[in-house]
Amino acid sequence: MTVKDAFDNSIKVPFFAPEVTDQDRKIVFNALKSPLLTDGPVLRKFEARFASYTKSKYAVGVSNATSALHLSLRALNIGKDDEVIIPDMTFVATASSVILAGATPVLADIDSRDLNISTESIEKNLTSKTKAIIPVHFAGKSCNMNVITRIAEKHDLFIIEDCAHALGTRFDGKHVGTFGDAGCFSFYPTKNITTIEGGMITTNSKKITDYVQKARNHGILKSLTQRYTKGKPWDYDVVEAGYNYRIDEIRSALGLSQLERLEKINHRRRQACKYYNQKFHDYEWIETPTITEDDSCHLYIMRIKKHGSSNRDKIFERLLKKGIRTSVHYKPLHKFTLLKQKAKTHGSLEQSKNAYEEIISLPLYPQITRKLQDVVADTITQ
Ligand SMILES: Cc1ncc(COP(=O)(O)O)c(C=O)c1O
Repeated sequence: MTVKDAFDNSIKVPFFAPEVTDQDRKIVFNALKSPLLTDGPVLRKFEARFASYTKSKYAVGVSNATSALHLSLRALNIGKDDEVIIPDMTFVATASSVILAGATPVLADIDSRDLNISTESIEKNLTSKTKAIIPVHFAGKSCNMNVITRIAEKHDLFIIEDCAHALGTRFDGKHVGTFGDAGCFSFYPTKNITTIEGGMITTNSKKITDYVQKARNHGILKSLTQRYTKGKPWDYDVVEAGYNYRIDEIRSALGLSQLERLEKINHRRRQACKYYNQKFHDYEWIETPTITEDDSCHLYIMRIKKHGSSNRDKIFERLLKKGIRTSVHYKPLHKFTLLKQKAKTHGSLEQSKNAYEEIISLPLYPQITRKLQDVVADTITQ
């Protein structure tokens, strides 16, 4: 089945297209022969490889990035009466994980230059209840981790990095997800590598690792392999209610296979972003993103200023009519009913509001061709 068949025949340029190779399929098929199918040796190998790639001490595989965020908050004992500062411009899971942990999300504004959380706004939103900051490395560009780490140290706060967009992203030569207490990665099909559904927590803390390994598996202290290789499989203890946030062997096999070619994938994504930048260079009503070798280029987001009678929405419609799918990342959190009820903000969200009027995310995937990019860019600038 092609991407076109899966969605709608009118789509000429899809917004995203996961790259699953013959080698990926072979590895997944082999993993299906594993006698365990979940919580076994392929997961252990995926975790070890992930820890070594990101240079974090530990990596723990989970069912998705939302469960990774939730477990990280739980591991740090963040809950009732606590406030957690998150950016207003992010996917809803950054906020819902805080709510699921029983704490209150506090919305900070963004920096208009790279759409990352504004460090000035973090400071404005600090209160005596603030326990943690969740910076989101937006679209695959790192937040300023020097400043965020300084704020956290000064006010004794935890940092949980939302790295859902940022596998392969570096700051000062270090992989993101290694600056704070924990880093949370997503392998959803739109992400730079996919396990279909899946996630990973990176941390240098043995305490967090122990909690997360246990809590992802119903609070049971032993893994499936441990239970069925030695002694009585039923003889385990549970001291705290856990979750089923496991990732299985098949997904781990796919992740392992994709992780091997991540650098190549990200290189191709970067080249595609640079090509878009080149195409839009001469248009003063288009603001293009800065692309560096440290960026994983998860999304290509540009800003369209009002020009004549045209604007972002009109361009979105024009692209849609031609079968070119684009999107907006994101509708800001403060606009959702859930967050109107559950979130706080102690400052202005002006930059996030302004950005929402102008941003558009263009089709981007490693296998996108220049010919397709020309069609997208020429439809925008026609
Ligand atoms: C910034 C951000 N955080 C968290 C998530 C949640 O990831 P998952 O779908 O793996 O739960 C996403 C997913 O798109 C995301 O974009």
